[in-house]
Amino acid sequence: MCGIIACIGHTDDTVDVLLSGLSSLEYRGYDSAGIAVSNGTLDVRKREGELDNLHDAVDTDPISGTFGIGHTRWSTHGPPTDENAHPHTDADWRVAVVHNGIIENYQELRDELEAAGYEFVSDTDTEVVPNLVASFLDEGYDAAESFSRAVSRLEGSYALAVIVAGEDSIFATRQDSPLVLGIGEDAYYLGSDVPAFLSYTRNVVYLEDGQSVTLRPNGWQVKNGDGAVVEPPVHTVEWDAEQTGKSGYEHFMLKEIHEQPTALRQCLSGRLDPLEGDVIVEELSDLDTPGAVQFVACGTSYHAALYGAMRFREVGIPAQAFLASEYATAPPPIADDELVVGVTQSGETADTLSALRTAQGRGAETLAVTNVVGSTASRECDHVMYIRSGPEIGVAATKTFSSQLVSLSLFVESVTSNTGSGRTRALVESLRDVAGDVQSVLDDSEGEIEELVDELGGSDAYFFIGRGYNAPVALEGALKFKEITYEHAEGFPAGELKHGPLALITDETPVFAVVTGDDEAARKTLGNIKEVQARGAPVVAVTDGVLEVERFADEVLRVPETDGNLGSLLANVQLQLVAYEMAASLGRPIDKPRNLAKSVTVE
Ligand code: F6R
Repeated sequence: MCGIIACIGHTDDTVDVLLSGLSSLEYRGYDSAGIAVSNGTLDVRKREGELDNLHDAVDTDPISGTFGIGHTRWSTHGPPTDENAHPHTDADWRVAVVHNGIIENYQELRDELEAAGYEFVSDTDTEVVPNLVASFLDEGYDAAESFSRAVSRLEGSYALAVIVAGEDSIFATRQDSPLVLGIGEDAYYLGSDVPAFLSYTRNVVYLEDGQSVTLRPNGWQVKNGDGAVVEPPVHTVEWDAEQTGKSGYEHFMLKEIHEQPTALRQCLSGRLDPLEGDVIVEELSDLDTPGAVQFVACGTSYHAALYGAMRFREVGIPAQAFLASEYATAPPPIADDELVVGVTQSGETADTLSALRTAQGRGAETLAVTNVVGSTASRECDHVMYIRSGPEIGVAATKTFSSQLVSLSLFVESVTSNTGSGRTRALVESLRDVAGDVQSVLDDSEGEIEELVDELGGSDAYFFIGRGYNAPVALEGALKFKEITYEHAEGFPAGELKHGPLALITDETPVFAVVTGDDEAARKTLGNIKEVQARGAPVVAVTDGVLEVERFADEVLRVPETDGNLGSLLANVQLQLVAYEMAASLGRPIDKPRNLAKSVTVE
């Protein structure tokens, strides 16, 4: 996830408008930042690192222009460097581009353009766009036509804003990546989010997938994918300054819960091959099928690791998840063909880094599954797979957990390559629907969870149970709940209840039971639900309804039916919402729970 800003109509202060837009968007990425402005010719300044570095570059070597584009980057292809920072241009600086998203066919386009003599200087997918536009300019098309021809060649997700030397316009479009048009008195703006230009106007048009827009100093025009001019509705934004970075949500956590469909699409982009019924994880193409796998991780990432280990065991590869902080005390033996995998959204958690170093010291090959390009884990491990969630600001991990589950599912299939097998094909089908399924959980649960929270608030303690793939979700549901509500909550693999925790169950301890599918684990969970109900506990079933759980539950939170053990991911989204609503009802500081930090860099 990156941040885009563009403006036209400000004659003197274009650079200031772009820089202030970028500072409002910095929460979308902070690996590097850059701007391009036009005065007939194009000028670009861009720098690795936080926005201050770009300010210094502009102060040292000022630029000016009557319109321009800007970008703050969250890396997906290539490390954070000056070369990989946006805007990207063609070699002659005729075209400058900022981009949010992933261009899936960039390698094929790059090969084609390089063969035709166009030069590339970065590792990014984005750089194909200015070169593609330039190639159409070279064929004699005007700027608008060159832009639309270039876009028609792109596959993947993108929000793009493009300027062309000698052309008084900004061209932009979106596909599966947000882009908003701002309409001022006599200036026009683009932003990947409203805060980018909120100090100049509250009148906005939310562009739809496939639409393109051209901004000129005296107006704007939106077209549909078929080229027909449309008159989209103009909305007035009512948010206050506090809410702007949160796109109108009360907290970053809620915003990030709602970003999950986009995060999952981004995670899956270019990694599914529905025709062959296979998955392709380019970064892992040089990894052999491991003989065994050890996962090391902490907290929420450890729960994802438990899920990943189960997936490996299911395909016959021995796998185990270890709490990273416990790993070094008595490290397990590591076989020659064994892989040690660190699951860490930040890539900076000291316990996880230490466990990975212990494993490396014993000769292990390592893989980091992380969200942060250039993080310590990504640099120190032999291999890295990115989960591509975009930055997560709320301390409680939400969208990164979902993306970890999906990434680990992709990881297992890609290294065991069962192209076209029934299992892989079914998983690919379910993964194609998973973003939509999460969206329907989010759409359908509105109101329902507030009522539930009203009913259950003030209880003595809250328990979460599940078996099989739903056991890590039960642990995660409880962790999220206690972390942001400060209420006592515990998660258990459902079968463990009767070995001790059942003594805690009363009519003042609601139990959230996760039951999806109709395998043996799900059927046995029904038995565990009856055990707690018999002791008077109110039961909330989180279920796809495949088994008739309703009969034994006091309340039901539904998720869509799906295959390939992705029901666990959907159930977890419901539990995220439960934790969030309970914390909100108690007035907790949800984005920054007491005593916790987003990245724990001490052991
Ligand atoms: C809980 C949470 C933490 C982290 C843990 C590991 O919501 O976010 O439990 O999961 O601190 O962090 P990473 O994944 O950055 O290694």
